[in-house]
Amino acid sequence: MKILGISGSSRGDQESGCHKLVETVLKASGCEYELVSLRGKKILGCTACLGCVENNICVQKDDMAQLREKFVEADAFVIAAPNFFGCMNAATHALLERLYQFRHREVDTLWGKLAVAIGVGGGDGLPVAEQIEGFMGYSFIETIAKVSGQGAACCFTCGYGETCKIGAIHMFFGPGTKITEDIIPAVEKQTEVMQAAVDAGKELGKRLSEGHDRTKVTAKMQQKMMEKYKEST
Ligand SMILES: Cc1cc2nc3c(=O)[nH]c(=O)nc-3n(C[C@H](O)[C@H](O)[C@H](O)COP(=O)(O)O)c2cc1C
Repeated sequence: MKILGISGSSRGDQESGCHKLVETVLKASGCEYELVSLRGKKILGCTACLGCVENNICVQKDDMAQLREKFVEADAFVIAAPNFFGCMNAATHALLERLYQFRHREVDTLWGKLAVAIGVGGGDGLPVAEQIEGFMGYSFIETIAKVSGQGAACCFTCGYGETCKIGAIHMFFGPGTKITEDIIPAVEKQTEVMQAAVDAGKELGKRLSEGHDRTKVTAKMQQKMMEKYKEST
């Protein structure tokens, strides 16, 4: 059983909260895995050209071609994105839009696979984890756990945070706040978030090793998506 981990952050692996949480989930799973960062990758959004309807292969020529094969080969996904203005960042959104290529005829579908969705924000990552779960649902992929944490907030480290009237320090902590190491947020400082990532990884490993039945998961997800569709009409 193989898991594909994706960190949607454009920041370095050492500083990125997304990267840290994806890696923690993957390691805790006990499964074979590969962690791919979207940093430096050129992946455009879906253009709705429908060039993929015949064979479920997108016709756009960019770094998604290589990632497509990894999506096909993996049994599960651990996907993390940073919160940009209340949404997942554009790089992750573009990647997930391109999963549209798997949604036509029954070739290489992602149906019945499993996922862990991770959101990281300077304030909150939960809306992003929920958005990732939403994308997974359209491919009948079951999100078995969501993890969200407070990651970097640039106002703590940009150099102007203590005096700037626009940024988060002034707004949330009040004027005159001194930036000390203990108030700078980072996911690894939040023991409950790191534990949630370990728990999610263990659960994913368990689900994959205990006779993961894609057909059953597909049926469950199809039912769930039908109910969601009925609610919205
Ligand atoms: C353009 C931009 C917009 C952002 N908007 C939000 C936001 O609306 N809410 C939030 O909680 N964090 C916001 N952040 C902070 C990032 O989500 C935060 O730095 C996160 O840790 C980045 O993930 P990473 O450490 O994996 O790169 C924003 C950051 C940038 C650069």
